Amino acid sequence: MKTLPFALIIAVILISLAFYIAKIRSKLPRKKVILLLGPPGSGKGTQAITLAKDLKIPHISTGDLFRQHIRTSTTLGQEVKALIADGKLVPDEIVMKMLFERLTEKDCENGYLLDGFPRTIPQAEALTSFLDGKSEIVAINLDVSDEIITKRIEGRLTCRECGNVQNKYFFPPKVESTCDECGGELVQRPDDSLDAVQERLKAYHTQSKPLLDFYTSKNTLKAVNGEMKTEEVYAALQSAYKEAL
Ligand code: AP5
Ligand code: MG
Repeated sequence: MKTLPFALIIAVILISLAFYIAKIRSKLPRKKVILLLGPPGSGKGTQAITLAKDLKIPHISTGDLFRQHIRTSTTLGQEVKALIADGKLVPDEIVMKMLFERLTEKDCENGYLLDGFPRTIPQAEALTSFLDGKSEIVAINLDVSDEIITKRIEGRLTCRECGNVQNKYFFPPKVESTCDECGGELVQRPDDSLDAVQERLKAYHTQSKPLLDFYTSKNTLKAVNGEMKTEEVYAALQSAYKEAL
């Protein structure tokens, strides 16, 4: 009979402790995961480099990861090369396997900036499950019209050596075909041909644009006008990020 009140006291202590721990945990800052959304050529890569540097978190671009695999001719690179050159999306399972493996690396512990992921609703749902409520998502969309995108992509020049991105109309190299950063050769991405751009825009409008409603319904979407000058877009991006916190 004496053991009953003792067990009761222990149970009360354990329950109180669980409540206390839950309260403390809810006050701890959650890891920030920033999603930079937007059509192809909207400036995600350009802006992501600066934002990630300022926030001291890694910038992870699924497009860059694929291009690295293609450059080094891995099995994955060979598998996706033609799809990417044609402007088609890589199947969800392939993208998710590659990305979620990357996100388990040590540098992602304090958050990260995703550029070009998610791009479909199944990818967004998989990301939600992967994060398991332990991170705070801030989704920011760069809004740019198809006309401006076509011109930006047609003029984009990418350094073969260091990946630096310039533009023959907006950020022309000081010396023709030569990277301002490292002196490497500036080339056009294979998926920057006019046909591939049309295909990428089609994929964007049918498969990626629904993400805007997906994140709006979760109250995590901020929109930024991506048609302004690079520095102005960056200032708007910073304000949107601060507002979302
Ligand atoms: P990815 O590399 O992500 O390509 P993208 O989304 O099509 O975007 P881009 O890299 O072309 O453009 P950006 O928005 O980064 O613009 P940037 O800053 O370079 O993906 C490539 C492919 O990989 C996909 O098509 C798909 O096949 C596959 N893939 C990747 N992720 C996937 C996923 N999650 N699911 C399935 N498949 C996936 O700027 C563009 C140009 O404009 C540059 O020249 C730049 O200098 C210039 N510029 C930038 N900002 C400005 C400005 N404010 N004013 C004037 N010019 C500007
Ligand atoms: Mg990019």
